[in-house]
Amino acid sequence: MTVLIRGVRLYGEGDAVDVVVDDGQIAAIGPDLDGPDDAETIDARGKILLPGFVDLHTHLREPGREYAEDIETGSAAAALGGYTAVFAMANTDPVADSPVVTDHVWHRGQQVGLVDVHPVGAVTVGLKGTQLTEMGLMAAGVGRVRMFSDDGVCVDDPLIMRRALEYASGLGVLIAQHAEEPRLTVNAVAHEGPNAAKLGLAGWPRSAEESIVARDAILARDAGARVHICHASTAGTVELVRWAKEQGISITAEVTPHHLLLDDARLSSYDGRNRVNPPLREASDAVALRQALADGVIDCVATDHAPHAAHEKTCEFAVARPGMLGLQTALSVVVETMVRPGAMTWRDVARVMSEAPARIVGLPDHGRPLEVGEPANLTVVDPDGTWTVSGADLASRSDNTPYEAMTLPAVVTLTMLRGKVTARDGISPARAGAATRGDS
Ligand code: DOR
Ligand code: ZN
Repeated sequence: MTVLIRGVRLYGEGDAVDVVVDDGQIAAIGPDLDGPDDAETIDARGKILLPGFVDLHTHLREPGREYAEDIETGSAAAALGGYTAVFAMANTDPVADSPVVTDHVWHRGQQVGLVDVHPVGAVTVGLKGTQLTEMGLMAAGVGRVRMFSDDGVCVDDPLIMRRALEYASGLGVLIAQHAEEPRLTVNAVAHEGPNAAKLGLAGWPRSAEESIVARDAILARDAGARVHICHASTAGTVELVRWAKEQGISITAEVTPHHLLLDDARLSSYDGRNRVNPPLREASDAVALRQALADGVIDCVATDHAPHAAHEKTCEFAVARPGMLGLQTALSVVVETMVRPGAMTWRDVARVMSEAPARIVGLPDHGRPLEVGEPANLTVVDPDGTWTVSGADLASRSDNTPYEAMTLPAVVTLTMLRGKVTARDGISPARAGAATRGDS
């Protein structure tokens, strides 16, 4: 099947061109191209072509909590958000701590066919923090696990973390740490500061995150290993990552869209949708995170897409499960916080949402340049479009978006995985016929 994308601007730069996609690859780029007679033509005038997005941090809940999300609904959300590859976190039930689970996740993702679902393997058996998993077996399985994390639970024992870094280094895989010193977050539900104090919510101090970031940077230095910091949330974490990079330590970090846009002023509603780990911080932290993303101190954006069912969210704040949907809103939040204010260009968007995450985890076929001969993992965006978020209309099985009723800029109009259309104008094939997303 040949697809002819007409009148699109690569990375939002230069003149509009036509792009021919054939046999899963970019076959030609240039002005006024002709495809074969049976080519499907897509009018993309005024739109921007980017490499398909890569999400290093997605919770798809399969196996075990399919009532909140599964690989099919999560894949549709990813495709609609412009993603061509996602990394599905290991805190499933059973935990993804063996090839039985990680291979299943990969297979199921390929069967659904909307996005490459790469399994993340657990660092420790059952996420219990005491015994390393057989990372080598998971890395060698069909799911080819490239990243390991106990996300949701910090690998807090320094000796276990040290051994994990050493083992991962030998295998050439990545350890991603959810930085949270658990002794400092006992019963914590909200950022420790004036807002939580006023509202009577138990506080989660910045030091819980920063002490682990500092420790892990030093452990990575001494092991000669790489470490990746999940969902950085504080200005202090930014300074520590900056320092570690200056020392030549192999450290990378991601930031979530919600930590770029939202802050703990929202907590006064006691709405469980605002509960997330790490918690929404203060506005000054969000400013530092934006600056760090623009500077490259923080390498990439990762969603921490965390679906939860209604009964797990519409309850007392301290009881609500932490987590927010993110796949379908990530691009719009990045445009709102970074592109609109002039802190980043569309070229930078390609870097932080596609190229850098693919590089961090060593994905060979995503985050590639928009050039002839490259795999056609692509996203077309309408930069002038706007849409109003409605949780009920999102493809996820859950609707816990913190952006309900917000009007956001930028609309994903087309996503392609190896030349196959996986989302178009708010409809993903798996969801064809379902309610479409609002448009400009
Ligand atoms: O808010 C969060 N939700 N943070 C995590 O680390 C885990 C995630 C989840 O699994 O729901
Ligand atoms: Zn986490």
